[in-house]
Amino acid sequence: MDGVFLVVTFLGRLFSGHGRQLGLVINIPLMREFQAQWVAITGASSGIGEQMAEILAQAGAKLVLVARRGDRLRQLAERCISLGAIEVRVVEVDLTASAGVEKLIAELSALPGGLDGLINNAGFGATGNFDQAHWRLLDSMLELNIASLVRLSHWAAGVLRAKGRGGILNVASTAAFQPLPGMALYGATKSFVSTFSAALHQELKYSGVKVSCLHPGKTETEFFDAAGMSGKAIRFFQIPGMSAREVAQIGLQGWAANQPQVIAGGLNRVIAFLTRLAPLTFQLRLAHSLFREPEARISE
Ligand SMILES: NC(=O)c1ccc[n+]([C@@H]2O[C@H](COP(=O)([O-])OP(=O)(O)OC[C@H]3O[C@@H](n4cnc5c(N)ncnc54)[C@H](OP(=O)(O)O)[C@@H]3O)[C@@H](O)[C@H]2O)c1
Repeated sequence: MDGVFLVVTFLGRLFSGHGRQLGLVINIPLMREFQAQWVAITGASSGIGEQMAEILAQAGAKLVLVARRGDRLRQLAERCISLGAIEVRVVEVDLTASAGVEKLIAELSALPGGLDGLINNAGFGATGNFDQAHWRLLDSMLELNIASLVRLSHWAAGVLRAKGRGGILNVASTAAFQPLPGMALYGATKSFVSTFSAALHQELKYSGVKVSCLHPGKTETEFFDAAGMSGKAIRFFQIPGMSAREVAQIGLQGWAANQPQVIAGGLNRVIAFLTRLAPLTFQLRLAHSLFREPEARISE
């Protein structure tokens, strides 16, 4: 298993720089797709969501920025306006609460001309053995990663089908492609997002509504602090991550092209392909060796 880990680390270093060179060009198709369109982004206060907001601002979109940290959202809103966004609204909500989700839907329903695009990006993970985690932490993960995404997708799909255009981009993970001992529930929530989004893509394919699912691999964001993985003991840390900017760019391009599944980065695509071929017992042992965390976050 150590040999496999070394190969993965080596390939990661080889491919990560290469991917960065490919992903950073602002292109005309993105501008054509999103200019003057209302796009709502959950989890916009940091990481991939924040970078998507900046790219869409440069494309001349109208944005609704959603997260709990209102101060961060308001700073980002100012930046987005200076980058070229036509209008930016901030919605400060906790999406683990159904009241927060309904409040967001009410705000989106009031947009002049209606919503054109929804990016369900907010999400978090936690390391450690499933049975030792506090139930409220796991319940919050189910609410944010699954329940809020499903409710928002259901509302938006109805609105967009009636319009005959627009789209939904859901953010899953390469964690969706195999069981993830050490992050069991997180991996399972992302598997849900993956299959749910692919099915929605097909259901809406001929309605003019684009549905894509972005699968980032390791990406340099605040995700690992939130997941309680700041202790460098976890081996996954030694694999280089992609930049949030590059992942955001790849996701938006894939969505504009209406790709059902967008895996960020060459190495992640290779690993996703090989994972499908590997026996389950091998997948389990490799994943557990990467994600076993001595200082696991087990409380709220
Ligand atoms: N980073 C990675 O390696 C990686 C890999 C694969 C997939 N992903 C996925 O990518 C997505 C974005 O994560 P990221 O890497 O950009 O991490 P991040 O920097 O931690 O961003 C997470 C975002 O979600 C928001 N959020 C968290 N809890 C929330 C809540 N209860 N209500 C509303 N918003 C909430 C956070 O804002 P507030 O704290 O202000 O609410 C933040 O804006 C997630 O779905 C994650 O699972 C990340």
